[in-house]
Amino acid sequence: MKALVFHGPGKRVWEDVPDPHIQDPTDAIVRVDAVTICGTDLHILGGDVPEVTDGRILGHEAVGTVVEVGSGVQTLSPGDRVLVSCVTACGRCRYCRDTSYGQCLGGGGWILGHLIDGTQAEQVRVPFADNSTHRVPDGVSDEQMLMLADILPTSYEVGVLNGRVKPADIVVIIGAGPIGLAAILAAKLMSPSHIVAVDLADSRLDAAKAFGADVVVNSGRDDVAAIVRDLTGGLGADVTMEAVGIPATFEQAVALVRPGGHVANIGVHGKPATLHLEDIWIKNLTITTGLVDTYSTPTLIGLVDSGRLDTSSMITHRFVLDQFEEAYDVFSRAGETGALKVLLTASS
Ligand SMILES: NC(=O)c1ccc[n+]([C@@H]2O[C@H](COP(=O)([O-])OP(=O)(O)OC[C@H]3O[C@@H](n4cnc5c(N)ncnc54)[C@H](O)[C@@H]3O)[C@@H](O)[C@H]2O)c1
Ligand SMILES: [Zn+2]
Ligand SMILES: [Zn+2]
Repeated sequence: MKALVFHGPGKRVWEDVPDPHIQDPTDAIVRVDAVTICGTDLHILGGDVPEVTDGRILGHEAVGTVVEVGSGVQTLSPGDRVLVSCVTACGRCRYCRDTSYGQCLGGGGWILGHLIDGTQAEQVRVPFADNSTHRVPDGVSDEQMLMLADILPTSYEVGVLNGRVKPADIVVIIGAGPIGLAAILAAKLMSPSHIVAVDLADSRLDAAKAFGADVVVNSGRDDVAAIVRDLTGGLGADVTMEAVGIPATFEQAVALVRPGGHVANIGVHGKPATLHLEDIWIKNLTITTGLVDTYSTPTLIGLVDSGRLDTSSMITHRFVLDQFEEAYDVFSRAGETGALKVLLTASS
């Protein structure tokens, strides 16, 4: 088969590789019908994730059709349409028993396209298949479902649920990339009074508006703190979310929240950020961090299936699998191309 293979920093090739096969009885082999690229894949290509070694097939998001199951798989059969989640779960360890699948100690967690071959291929081996896939409801399209592999559960769990967004809250989301935009969609489920989106790129702020942000702020030009103060009677936001992954925006998220409020960090950080305890010890803040667990995926599937959540506007560019290298090029130049999520589908 063909797959998108990582060959060290900056090198990725759509090339021939051996077909995957069942290695453990709990494995399934899934034919990839729809797949996308994540910002994390760009971090891998940038050399930021050294555990990813030469020859690894990238990708941790897919919708596909089961072609083969191991003898220990109980709930899937060939022909089933499934979502392949970014997080794999052994289902037995203390974290899986607590639905903290991202922290799985039994060989799961984020492993696809990281520690084992991933989804950017014509077929993928999915370990612990019963616990690591979700059936696609009949009326839900592959592309709507694909957005539930990573960005929606991340934004909902690590942003909205960790941040305890409540009706009438004023929510500030810093960063309007795919994760920040998904956080807007997910926050709207809780009926906040205002969602404020902050970014440096006007194109991303236009997208934020289209996704339902009430106020958009270009923090390169405008005074975010003053705007949030005006909106909140000087108090600060009820919830702030950090969806960039740099020290400055984490510190901004802490500075913009009201006493008693919640700061939900979503961004992946590579550098230390300063926590101004001298300012905040008195403020009764709750600050949360998290890796997505994907425990909310069934909830999100129900919302998409019932028409309460529409993820379709997230996809800006469409390709077939053989155009994978071009898709990477378009996605990695998001500033020029306006790409949010790219969709790749099997050619026929
Ligand atoms: N916690 C998790 O489980 C998890 C899962 C997936 C992704 N992430 C992380 O979430 C973050 C966002 O992901 P993404 O795919 O949307 O990334 P992205 O790079 O596409 O988007 C980041 C956005 O932040 C904006 N930005 C950059 N600097 C800024 C600044 N100083 N102020 C305001 N905005 C600024 C950029 O213009 C861009 O629109 C990343 O750090 C990613 O690694 C976390
Ligand atoms: Zn991802
Ligand atoms: Zn586990």
